[in-house]
Amino acid sequence: MANASVTEIAPDIFRICTYFSQKDLEFNEFLVRDEQPLLFHTGPRKTFGEVLAAVRTLIDPSRLRWIGFSHYEADECGSINEWLTVAPDAQAVCSQVAINVSINDVAEKPGRGLKHNEVLTTGRRRFRFLRTPHVPHAWESGLMFEETERILFCSDLFFQSGRHPALTESEVATGAAATLRKYQASPMANSVPYTPYTDRIMEGLAALEAASLALMHGPTYRGDCASQLRALAASTRELFANYTQWP
Ligand SMILES: [Fe+2]
Ligand SMILES: [Fe+2]
Repeated sequence: MANASVTEIAPDIFRICTYFSQKDLEFNEFLVRDEQPLLFHTGPRKTFGEVLAAVRTLIDPSRLRWIGFSHYEADECGSINEWLTVAPDAQAVCSQVAINVSINDVAEKPGRGLKHNEVLTTGRRRFRFLRTPHVPHAWESGLMFEETERILFCSDLFFQSGRHPALTESEVATGAAATLRKYQASPMANSVPYTPYTDRIMEGLAALEAASLALMHGPTYRGDCASQLRALAASTRELFANYTQWP
């Protein structure tokens, strides 16, 4: 694993990327430099040192105020306690389900649970929280939409293996569908559920008319985000709506 690389994807919004060659997978965290700095995803606990060094080039890490993430998994929030130690005023911010089920037990400090459509203001930036159960996966899942730059922080949506440019205008839905197919044929199958409300959630995300999709495992895409979300919804439906193979 190389040192993390940092790219400014919008004014004062930075993508911090580490690449795991054994997994052929990128892990991206996003640091928002604002009055109340926010880190979206901590990255896996074992990358804490690399991510901390990257954040230190952007802000004084002790100033971090918010640690946001979609769902309770190591790459989303595995180093939450390390961050809470480095940043005494920091607090987890995620769905109320994640708070109730995991964070208020596992984290050293109580977190803040957001309701659907509740807005977190960090200063100049406004983050609308969207409750998205089982999208990308896990019942506590939620996503954040930054309203001024219209960036949807996608977590594992559009998950795709390989190394990518930090920013792209080339479509991302085809690569995501290819990775889903590859994973279904591997021991990592069943990572994406398809539920009675998957399509409605995906359509709700498309209706945001985002300008950028900030992928955790892949590039940050700029372009027709609604079309990309609808294409991903279609391939998810095609792959999983009638999926019966188990285990
Ligand atoms: Fe995940
Ligand atoms: Fe992830």
